[in-house]
Amino acid sequence: MNNQNQLYDIGVIGLGVMGKNLALNIVDNQYRVAAFDLDEHKVKDTVRQEELERKQYLKQHRQPRLVGCNNLSEVLSSLEKPRILLLSVPAGGPVDGVCQALIEAGIERDDIVIDTGNSLWTDTVEREQRYSKDFLFFSCAVSGGEVGARFGPSLMPSGSLTAWNRIEPIWQAIAAKVDASTGLPIERFEPGNPVKEGEPCTTYIGPAGSGHYVKMVHNGIEYADMQLICEAYHLLSQGLGLSASEVADVFAKWNQGSLNSYLMEISADVLKQADPLTGAPLVEMILDKAGQKGTGLWTAVSSLQIGCPAPTIAEAVYARAVSTQKSQRQQLSQLLAGPADNSDAELDKQAFIDQLENALYCAKVSCYAQGFQLMAMQAKEQGWQLDFAEIAKIWRAGCIIRATFLQSITQAYQQDSGLENLLMADVFAKALSDKQGNWRIAVSHAVMSGVPAPCISSALAYYDSYRSEVLPASLLQGQRDYFGAHTFERTDKPAGEKYHLNWSSDRKLHKV
Ligand code: 6PG
Repeated sequence: MNNQNQLYDIGVIGLGVMGKNLALNIVDNQYRVAAFDLDEHKVKDTVRQEELERKQYLKQHRQPRLVGCNNLSEVLSSLEKPRILLLSVPAGGPVDGVCQALIEAGIERDDIVIDTGNSLWTDTVEREQRYSKDFLFFSCAVSGGEVGARFGPSLMPSGSLTAWNRIEPIWQAIAAKVDASTGLPIERFEPGNPVKEGEPCTTYIGPAGSGHYVKMVHNGIEYADMQLICEAYHLLSQGLGLSASEVADVFAKWNQGSLNSYLMEISADVLKQADPLTGAPLVEMILDKAGQKGTGLWTAVSSLQIGCPAPTIAEAVYARAVSTQKSQRQQLSQLLAGPADNSDAELDKQAFIDQLENALYCAKVSCYAQGFQLMAMQAKEQGWQLDFAEIAKIWRAGCIIRATFLQSITQAYQQDSGLENLLMADVFAKALSDKQGNWRIAVSHAVMSGVPAPCISSALAYYDSYRSEVLPASLLQGQRDYFGAHTFERTDKPAGEKYHLNWSSDRKLHKV
């Protein structure tokens, strides 16, 4: 398949949904691609798609911009040296499988291999070391799904700066673009006509692993953001009795205001959709069991390991877990009592919809505060210099959590790059003070009507915990000292001085 006379700019290995669309995005931006997949049908399909789009949209451009290769040796011999290779293969073993095969095929030391999958960040750190004698291992986490990959994703590259300097122009060209003044995405979904204006949604994140860590937290926030919207749907449908289409209208309206986001927009669209088989709202025909590939779980685990509270992200993972236990839920729905009267006859529906809008906004702030704080704590631990204004900036377009709201986060970090917690930013502190009353009403309503809202309420508990100067951890330390002589510090003595009370004998206090 390969025309040996032409050298190509970048190799794309793995032509699944993401790899194929990234390859087409790259060629639209005037870089030439050598493409390969173990499945030859995928190679043929990508070659065919490039040809189709070239003929349809780029009538004057006759030369193929992409070549399909039969094997990795052919990819290597098709590329300009030093080579750039983009891997789009499933995270885990397949990444190492391709790296090993590239070594056997003759990859050279100054060639760059970029892992664009959802790899575990610690694997990325290890890989940079492991392959350092063979080639430059680099990573770039990608968000945006199929459409993002094709017309502009959010890209989170990290690793060797030498590698970054070489790939940066390509990355800036293929990334999503944002209008810097409004923070809104500049979108055009036309093959052959990529968006060139605006700020590209990519920035060098830091040393190996940091980009995948940031993407992992993006996904944790994504899980929470999705679950928050689902809880609002539940409260409006089951709680208030609104139809799917009515909830879609509420969401579409919210999407015009401070809750504007891609996830809100698609949720309204999903809720409007009729089932092609029965005509019922499709959402009512979709089985209520949520899947997951694991990145939200990694975020929750990381928050627990590092001791950084991210309860709303963890609750979002649990919500998916409980959803999968359908048969147990079916049994328990017959067995366990809910509130005696959960009718909303007395409720002013419009007032509640407005209160819920405020609750959702507050919960969202709380959830992003958790995610950003987690990144900050991990950065400190790893010695990464993460620039949170830049991270918020590159999430304004292309990625799944893109939202108007990210412009405010960008500005908050631009004003104070050392912000310890987003809750401290004036803009959010004020909004939370103003809206928290409605947040509490929404949570109380969920509790009293028996509609589970673990994310909306855990986000409130996070807010209340951080605004509590005094927490009952004093009693907890007393309990620990009681049964385990674990000692405690005193409020009236210097920090670090440890005390123990002889609980089981004379109850005398000892400085330890
Ligand atoms: C993105 C998404 C993506 C994610 C899938 C599946 O940013 O484009 O986060 O990377 O992997 O949406 O996620 P789950 O299957 O875990 O929901």
